[in-house]
Amino acid sequence: KPLWLVVPAAGQGRRMAADRPKQYLPLLDRPVLAHTLERLHSAFPQARLILCLDDDDRWFTPEWVPFAQWQRVSGGAERMDSVLNALNAIDAQDNDLVLIHDVARPCVTQSDLLALYQAAECHAAGALLAMPVADTMKRASASGTSLHTEPRDALWHALTPQGFRYRQLYRALSDARQRGTLITDEASAVEALGDAPQLVPGRRDNLKVTHPDDLALAAAILTSQLTPPDR
Ligand code: CTP
Ligand code: MG
Repeated sequence: KPLWLVVPAAGQGRRMAADRPKQYLPLLDRPVLAHTLERLHSAFPQARLILCLDDDDRWFTPEWVPFAQWQRVSGGAERMDSVLNALNAIDAQDNDLVLIHDVARPCVTQSDLLALYQAAECHAAGALLAMPVADTMKRASASGTSLHTEPRDALWHALTPQGFRYRQLYRALSDARQRGTLITDEASAVEALGDAPQLVPGRRDNLKVTHPDDLALAAAILTSQLTPPDR
């Protein structure tokens, strides 16, 4: 049964404020995108990759794609539009598994990828990597005062990958688009249909490269992951 990997990579990286989209910034020896694709490929070498790229992208090079089976699709205005373009472009069966992973998360590990895959396989509502919130969480007023403290034991950070059945994901995203709801991850579209995806505890170092100082952090994470802990 085929496994589909959707990698939205059509963002502009505005918060990074660099000379190019953040997925093309150098991280150690290669661009961010090359690391992300390599990690996905080593966990799922047989998967079929759908890479969402901006039509005006001047930076992409096919050499960075290690997959034997892959295709490029046009990005959309928002991340969810990019993912929907990918789902529209493929000839998937209703029950095929689709994993979506941010191109901006190059530090995801093999064990997290496999744990997420297994959870998505066995939960009907799908699954997402996530991390329990560590800090005390405040509810703010419009003027920036702290109104109260939210109980944090039920709060998680949503990470990627997230994995769902093709038909369920397609329905969830097209419903969200029809309603005009802006969603920032696939799980929120699935939740809006009344389903409850499984939270899979993931590593804290699955950083989304977002702000300028995240690049040095990502480089340190990659280096530490490659160094055996006893050295
Ligand atoms: N993405 C996409 N299509 C869009 C917007 C975002 O494929 N229209 C992708 C990004 O390339 C990234 C992921 O969605 O892999 C998560 O988005 P984000 O971290 O917000 O990246 P950017 O939108 O590029 O960054 P920013 O919001 O700072 O501009
Ligand atoms: Mg964005």
